Amino acid sequence: MSANNEEMVVTPWEVSGKIDYDKLVREFGTQPITPELLERIQKHTGTLHPQLQRRIFFSHRDLDWILQRYEAGEKFVLYTGRGPSGPVHIGHLVPWIFTKYLQDKFDAKLYFQMTDDEKFLYHDEFSLDEPQKWAYENALDLIALGFDPKKTRIIMDTKSMGTLYNLAIRIAKHMTFSTVRAVFGFQDSTNIGMLFYPAIQAVPAFLESELEGHNVPCLIPAAIDQDPYWRVTRDVAPKLGFYKPAQIHCRFVPGLGRGGKMSASMPETSIFTVDSPEVAAKKVMGAFTGGRATIEEQKRLGANPDICSVFAYDYFLFMDDKEIEDLRFNCLAGNIMCGECKQVLTERVKKFLVEHQEKREKAKDHFEEFLFNPKDI
Ligand code: TYM
Repeated sequence: MSANNEEMVVTPWEVSGKIDYDKLVREFGTQPITPELLERIQKHTGTLHPQLQRRIFFSHRDLDWILQRYEAGEKFVLYTGRGPSGPVHIGHLVPWIFTKYLQDKFDAKLYFQMTDDEKFLYHDEFSLDEPQKWAYENALDLIALGFDPKKTRIIMDTKSMGTLYNLAIRIAKHMTFSTVRAVFGFQDSTNIGMLFYPAIQAVPAFLESELEGHNVPCLIPAAIDQDPYWRVTRDVAPKLGFYKPAQIHCRFVPGLGRGGKMSASMPETSIFTVDSPEVAAKKVMGAFTGGRATIEEQKRLGANPDICSVFAYDYFLFMDDKEIEDLRFNCLAGNIMCGECKQVLTERVKKFLVEHQEKREKAKDHFEEFLFNPKDI
């Protein structure tokens, strides 16, 4: 059975099957991003980021409320993160690129959580230094995207726990075993670190309020797989006198195979930011497309961009509106063949990787400037 026919699974640890985003909005109880809300965002940002325009960010909780507070003169903080279990793939970059846009447009401070603790607890095979090493490596990818060091703080969980712990235990006291079991599907065999961990991922949502001594709204941009954490965090917020954090959710960048999201556990269909341009090119040339069995058939009947992973990359990351529109037309009309499309994407991916890797190298000199230190933020 192909991945497209499998039952949809979306949890913080597994995303599989054909993703039905409307169903997720219903099941998770989030709100779709409406044209009215986009108009309201545009009033503040001037232009809409392509990720909003293309509905890559498609769902939210309390985004209207965040804008209302902002319009009343109250600034918000941004919060996002990474579970450092390996190299970053270009799917991870999608919410981070968007977060940078929000930081720039709303002049917002960002807390970025590196959950080396979560990944140590989750992966049986990991020793503690493994996710700690990846936390540093992944931070370089974040810094390479151009975040403002004055307004960005990276929290390394295992290094910053002294500061986080006081909030974590206050949060944990309001999360019951039965709630986290129901929300995250924990089993009797789940280690107790994992049971406590949701309290730790909740902490940065309240950190600015705690450090400032008054409530500060918080907006979390991330793919929708992280939503279970925000449900339990939002439940606890009023019990501790904090605002509930707002969310804005994005879709998943698919892998280069047939169906399914880009996932580090499938390296052959993921483009990692540290892949050499040659390795990445090979992966793109082997990608699943919406093409026909023969060139003759494709010229006659056209191909299907909606199931094509190459088209998805162009759509999520690499092409502007005009290019996407032209590509879609030419693909459906049978005017362009898959080999040609792969070639175009290969060139763009290679260029992106070369530039990103240069910035990643430079980020090594600036890592310390980004580290969370409660005294200086
Ligand atoms: P992690 O490391 O699984 O994912 C990091 C971020 O990337 C998003 N993401 C994707 N986005 C688009 N396409 C994909 N294929 C794709 N795969 C992953 C995730 O939604 C996430 O935004 N527990 C978290 C770490 C964390 C966190 C946070 C994430 C701690 N605090 C606050 C977001 C917001 C984790 O393991 O993320």
